Amino acid sequence: MARFDGKTALVTGAGSGIGEAVAKLLAADGARVVVADIDMTGANRVVEEITSAGGSAAAFEQNTADPAANEAVVDFAKREFGALHLAVNNAGIGGPLAHTGEYPIDGWQRVIDINLNGVFYGLRYELPAIVEAGGGAVVNIASILGTNGTAGSPAYVAAKHGVVGLTKTAAIEYSSQGVRVNSVGPGYIETPLLTKALDQDQMQGLVGLHPIGRLGRAEEVATLVAFLLSDEASFITGSYHLVDGAYAAQ
Ligand SMILES: NC(=O)c1ccc[n+]([C@@H]2O[C@H](COP(=O)([O-])OP(=O)(O)OC[C@H]3O[C@@H](n4cnc5c(N)ncnc54)[C@H](O)[C@@H]3O)[C@@H](O)[C@H]2O)c1
Repeated sequence: MARFDGKTALVTGAGSGIGEAVAKLLAADGARVVVADIDMTGANRVVEEITSAGGSAAAFEQNTADPAANEAVVDFAKREFGALHLAVNNAGIGGPLAHTGEYPIDGWQRVIDINLNGVFYGLRYELPAIVEAGGGAVVNIASILGTNGTAGSPAYVAAKHGVVGLTKTAAIEYSSQGVRVNSVGPGYIETPLLTKALDQDQMQGLVGLHPIGRLGRAEEVATLVAFLLSDEASFITGSYHLVDGAYAAQ
């Protein structure tokens, strides 16, 4: 028996990068997966790849910055697959790069809307559904920048610190109702979020921040997320888990 047999999982931002790797791993381990994304081309491709590998998945168009879309995707999961047991709030953007005193106000609002408000809206509708299903687990994708700062990304850093705090609070509130909530802090991971925004020299600069000597792979984050969602992690809740090639150890 696979570890997520009989479970339904919702993964936001699952049409690319870390979310895609998580969706594929959960499906390979038996979960029925709602592949939610604002970009349906990515979401449909991931569903097609999961189903042709023998898994079960359905795509849903969702802008996580829109509260109604968060309610709609949870309703879709229940309608399509009967209940919601697992959720991964992963959708996120990098946002503009500028120092705080020059940071574009609209860029700040966009990053906070997607990277922080989107996680709250997700929890707002996922938690009652998971309680209704008899319990389960949530992982919120933060970042090493959920506890560290960095020059040039004030909105991203503030949002990710917020995600870590929100995770702790939800865990305290929902542990007694059978829902575990954890956050994950990846180091820099080679996904389109980086490769579309940075040139080769900038990517090389990021490699130098990781004592392990390379960037991470989306699959290496997915392994940790799946563990935290599984029953093997039954006493782990309210905590923040790094997967960062020793970035934050320095
Ligand atoms: N790549 C990294 O170095 C890194 C490091 C730490 C944390 N993270 C976090 O991991 C998460 C995933 O990032 P990734 O690297 O896989 O990026 P990615 O760009 O490869 O994938 C992000 C996905 O989210 C979707 N998305 C963007 N805005 C959305 C919205 N408003 N509503 C719904 N979907 C939306 C995109 O369409 C895309 O499919 C993000 O929260 C990011 O902050 C990434």
